[in-house]
Amino acid sequence: MTFLDPASGSGNFLTETYISLRRLENEALKEQLGVEIVLGELDNPIQVSIGQFYGIEINDFAVTVAKTALWIAEAQMMAETENIVHMNLDFLPLKSYANIVEGNALTLDWTHVVPRDKVDYIMGNPPLGGYN
Ligand SMILES: C[S@@+](CC[C@H](N)C(=O)[O-])C[C@H]1O[C@@H](n2cnc3c(N)ncnc32)[C@H](O)[C@@H]1O
Repeated sequence: MTFLDPASGSGNFLTETYISLRRLENEALKEQLGVEIVLGELDNPIQVSIGQFYGIEINDFAVTVAKTALWIAEAQMMAETENIVHMNLDFLPLKSYANIVEGNALTLDWTHVVPRDKVDYIMGNPPLGGYN
């Protein structure tokens, strides 16, 4: 699943969604580990990644905050997963990238941020002007 907030601010919607999905994933891992412990050295038990989260934000400082918030959330959730799988995940070849783009969502082609057929959910609370 992929998520886009086209006025992502400091990334609260994206970060909270990421954390909620990772917590669900951790619950699933707990259930699996009750039945089978099959984690090999190179197996990566984590499927949900911050790379699934996209944002467009006009304010450069907010862009930096959003990226940092996602990276911190990733590290926190990594620690929670480590406590479940009882292995150090730092050495795993994890590569993740926070896809927060600085730009004006009113003029930017959103498909340059994330392809249309790759987006599952668009969320946001942009500043609204006028009567509608
Ligand atoms: C209420 S905040 C959004 C908060 C965000 N949903 C979150 O979870 O943190 C609205 C954001 O829209 C941004 N914004 C306003 N106009 C914009 C535009 N044309 N393009 C992109 N972002 C814009 C503002 O800079 C502000 O950070």
